Amino acid sequence: LRSKLVDIADTDAVVAACDEDVALVWVESPTNPNLDVADIERICTAAHEAGAYVVVDNTFATPLLQRALDLGADLVVHSATKYLAGHSDALLGALVTRDDQLFTVLKQRRDLLGAVPGTLEAWLAVRGMRTLHLRVERAQANAAELARRLGEHPAVQLVRYPGFGAIVSVELAAGALAADLLPRKTRLWVHATSLGGVESTLERRRRWKGEPTTVSDALVRLSVGVEDVEDLWDDLSRALDGLTD
Ligand SMILES: Cc1ncc(COP(=O)(O)O)c(C=O)c1O
Repeated sequence: LRSKLVDIADTDAVVAACDEDVALVWVESPTNPNLDVADIERICTAAHEAGAYVVVDNTFATPLLQRALDLGADLVVHSATKYLAGHSDALLGALVTRDDQLFTVLKQRRDLLGAVPGTLEAWLAVRGMRTLHLRVERAQANAAELARRLGEHPAVQLVRYPGFGAIVSVELAAGALAADLLPRKTRLWVHATSLGGVESTLERRRRWKGEPTTVSDALVRLSVGVEDVEDLWDDLSRALDGLTD
């Protein structure tokens, strides 16, 4: 089994990589944590012409903001741990397809291998999804406003925000040390890897050794929650101001 990494935002490169040897194209969009967005429709067309399946990780967008199956994906994966369950209290994954054959094979394998969700996790996800539309709407509005304000803050060199969703990444002008310090200076924002919950979290991704160097070491990923946007900004801007104190 061989795999080839291609920049998902470079659609021509992805299309060119879809040759007859390819069995599966795995797309994450928007990507974690650089928030690049893939042209899913074009990639699906090229992959299908090459006889390959396309899997889209739709965790960051949620099914409300990106309909990957409608765009041609054969399979969609979600970390339901994130927005679908939405309260940072369940670990769960979801696999979605309209293909009966794929469904049968995957369900059989899941049942045989024992990767069956617990009833509590399943219930938490179903309960969480009842407010998915409200949470996504509020978190996205907060994120758009914060992305705009962050772009004007002198401590921020670059804002990465794809224009939808509630994950925003910033690259700090003062570099890696400042990125390490920022999550330690906030009070309302929680320093955590987890994302997609009602509460806002942030993390310097390069604190993990496994994070690739294509991610800036000055990058902090923000998962914007549903709190009052002014409270979020007060806390975040105070912490950013404090980096230069
Ligand atoms: C885009 C994306 N997909 C999948 C996962 C894996 O999620 P889980 O921790 O629920 O296995 C993550 C976790 O951060 C993620 O960000």
